[in-house]
Amino acid sequence: MEKKSVARKPHCLVIAFPSQSHINPMLQFSKLLEHHGVKITLVTTRSYYHNLQKVPPSIAVETISDGFDKGGISEAESFKAYTDTFWQVGPQTFAELIEKLGKIGDYVDCVIYDSFFPWALDVAKRFGIVGVAYLTQNMSVNSIYYHAHLGKLQVPLKESEISLPALPKLQPEDMPSFFSTYIEDPFVLDFVVDQFSNIDKADWILCNTFYELDEEVANWTIGIWPNFRNIGPNIPSMFLDKQYEDDQDYSVTQFKSEDCIQWLNDKPEGSVVYVSFGSLAMLNEKQMEELAYGLKECSSYFLWVVRASEQIKLPKDFEKESDKGLVVTWCSQLRVLAHKAIGCFVTHCGWNSTLETMCLGVPIIAIPWWSDQPINAKLMTDVWKIGIRAPIGETKFVQRETIKYCIRRMLESEEGKMMKNNSIQLKTLALKAISKGGSSYENIIEFTNNLFSF
Ligand code: UDX
Repeated sequence: MEKKSVARKPHCLVIAFPSQSHINPMLQFSKLLEHHGVKITLVTTRSYYHNLQKVPPSIAVETISDGFDKGGISEAESFKAYTDTFWQVGPQTFAELIEKLGKIGDYVDCVIYDSFFPWALDVAKRFGIVGVAYLTQNMSVNSIYYHAHLGKLQVPLKESEISLPALPKLQPEDMPSFFSTYIEDPFVLDFVVDQFSNIDKADWILCNTFYELDEEVANWTIGIWPNFRNIGPNIPSMFLDKQYEDDQDYSVTQFKSEDCIQWLNDKPEGSVVYVSFGSLAMLNEKQMEELAYGLKECSSYFLWVVRASEQIKLPKDFEKESDKGLVVTWCSQLRVLAHKAIGCFVTHCGWNSTLETMCLGVPIIAIPWWSDQPINAKLMTDVWKIGIRAPIGETKFVQRETIKYCIRRMLESEEGKMMKNNSIQLKTLALKAISKGGSSYENIIEFTNNLFSF
C-alpha cells in the first residue's frame, strides 16, 4: 500500500464507546486509514484506557472523561445514570482535547465518532471539523432504529409483522430486543434511536459491513444518505485479506485469553463446535444447564467460552476439560474460528461475531440473546442461509435435545454442507470487498482521498 506524501498528514480523532465490541472494529478501521497515510488518535475514557495497551504504537491514544474516571460504567448505578453523566462531561472534555491538540500544533481535521455518541458530531461541527459517523451495527438494524427515530415504527410494537423498505418481513421476535422491553425500560431503545438525532449533519456515514452482503439495504440507505459508505468488514487483516505484512491481532479486550489452539490441533477437521455468547450476554442458569448437557451428550467435540463471572452457573458436576470438550474463560475467537478443526459456531449473533464467522467461512447455530442479535440471527439463517436458529419454544430457553439436534443437523447433514458452502461463498465476497478494487476498499480510498483534499 502506498502512503501518500504530504507536508502534513490529515489527522483523525477516532472515538468509540468504551466497550471492546465498539473499539475493536473502529481500531481495525483506524489501522486501514493509517495504512493509507492518515494520522490517527484514538480517544477513549480514562477508566477504559488501561485496556488499550495493545494498540499499535503508531496510533496515539488520548482520553476524555465519562464522569467515572476510576471504574467507568461499573461505578454507575445504571446504564442510564452512566450515559446521563457521560453525555454531560464527555462533550466538554472532548472539546478540551481538540483545543489542547490545536495548541500544540496537532490540529484535528476530522472526527470519526461511534454513532452511539451523537454529541461528538456537535463538538466537531462547533470546531468546523469534518464529522464522520461510524455505525458499528449492521445496516438493517440501523434502518430499524432510523425508522423508529422518524416515528415510522409504532413503539411498543403493535403489528404482528413488520414491513420496512429493503428488509425481509420481520416478526416481533426478529426485532432488536429493546422494542419488546420498551414498556419496562424505555431508556435503552431511546438511547439507540438517538444515534440518528443529528446524523443528517454528518459529512460521511460509514458502516462496518460490505455492499455485496446486503445490496438492497445498502442501495436504500445510500438513497437516504448519499454520503453513506460500507467500509467493512473491519477485522484484523491477518484473518482476511492479509494485505499488510506488519499486521498483528491488536484486538482490545478486558478479558485474559486462554490458549486452546493446542487442544484444537489434534481434533479432526470440522469436528469441533465452538460456543460463545460474546462479552456481555448473561445466560440464566437453566439455559447454562441445558447447554452444558446438550454439549456433553452430543457426539461432537466442543470448545465453550464461559466468562469467569459466568462460570458459577455451570452445573456442579460439569467437567471443564475432558477429551470431549474444553471450557475456557476467554480465547482469541478469530484464531479459533480460523482453525480447521472448527465445524460450526453456536453464537449469540453479536455483529462482530457475525462478521468474524462469515469472514472465516464457519456456519452457525444461532441463539440470539438481546439487542441487535435477533435480527442478525434472522439474516444469517433466512437470508444468507449460513446457519440455523435454535428454537426457544414456550420454555423460553433452548433445550438440550434441541441443541443436540441442531449440532447433528449442522455437522452431519447435506443441509449442513450447503450452509458451510454458503459461508465459504460469503467469505469470498467479504475478502473481495476489502481487497484492492473491492467495494469497501474503494470506499476507503474515496474517503481518504477526500481527507487529503483539505
Ligand atoms: C455487543 C452486543 O451484544 C452485540 O449484539 C452488538 O452487535 C455489539 O455489541 P458482544 O456481545 O460482545 O457485543 O458481541 P460481539 O459483537 O459478537 O463481539 C464479541 C467480540 O468478542 C468478538 O470480536 C469476538 O471475537 C470477541 N471474543 C469473544 C473473543 O475474542 N474471545 C472470546 O472468547 C469471545
